[in-house]
Amino acid sequence: MHHHRVIIVTGSSRGIGEATAVEFLKHGDSVVVFCRHRDHVEEAEDRLRRFANADQILGLTGDVRKFGDVKRIVTKSLTKFGRIDVLVNNAGIAVWKLVEETSEKEWDDVLATNLKGAYLFMREVVPLMKGQGDGIIINISSGLGAAGDTKYSAYSSSKFGLIGLTQCVAQEIKNPDIKVYAALPGAVATKLHLDIHPWEDPKDMLTPEYVGRKIFKLAQGERRSGASVEIYG
Ligand SMILES: NC(=O)c1ccc[n+]([C@@H]2O[C@H](COP(=O)([O-])OP(=O)(O)OC[C@H]3O[C@@H](n4cnc5c(N)ncnc54)[C@H](OP(=O)(O)O)[C@@H]3O)[C@@H](O)[C@H]2O)c1
Repeated sequence: MHHHRVIIVTGSSRGIGEATAVEFLKHGDSVVVFCRHRDHVEEAEDRLRRFANADQILGLTGDVRKFGDVKRIVTKSLTKFGRIDVLVNNAGIAVWKLVEETSEKEWDDVLATNLKGAYLFMREVVPLMKGQGDGIIINISSGLGAAGDTKYSAYSSSKFGLIGLTQCVAQEIKNPDIKVYAALPGAVATKLHLDIHPWEDPKDMLTPEYVGRKIFKLAQGERRSGASVEIYG
């Protein structure tokens, strides 16, 4: 695929999402950048303009947990760019607590952001891609989506769920030109990871830029649909 494509990256104001946006922009693609906070989006847009023309970037605000927001983001993306070639369901939050210390609100927020958000976006984008006749969806799971670990009950459950969701949607789509993947990064030096493990050394982690390059590569669509792809460096 060599034509310039249109990408939605959820939660792209920093971390893995921003690094993924940079990678696509550098290749001439157009990217819809959004997260919940207007100031975060504007700051990210300022940084991203160094890698792209202003008209390659559409900055929006919205919450992946809210169906109305998801619908609005998809509609505005189509109004500006006319199609959606790649969807990267990246927005995520983490809670690092024993199961008995995890509040119901924390559980619900993690599952709604990490798992329901991807469902809401796929519900909107899968029919579009079926109409276009091609497309790539990449769901950012985690190594914790393949093996649980202490204090990750909510997070790991959401990431296991995302792998199941990926496999189901991949099976549902019969068109071989539409591929659905789960990406499973190890620890990445971002706010999400460092907020819960501030004593760890970022030098021992993957960089968001490395992960962004791997996601760009996965978006070339060479792997079989439904695959879980580890990004461990
Ligand atoms: N860092 C790691 O070690 C690691 C490892 C494996 C997988 N992952 C996964 O990679 C993804 C990105 O993580 P990261 O480490 O880059 O995190 P991050 O630096 O905390 O970035 C998260 C991004 O998501 C946005 N966001 C959060 N909740 C949102 C919501 N409800 N609606 C829309 N946007 C939302 C944030 O902006 P706002 O707060 O302004 O909304 C921000 O742009 C996550 O799914 C995470 O689980 C991370």
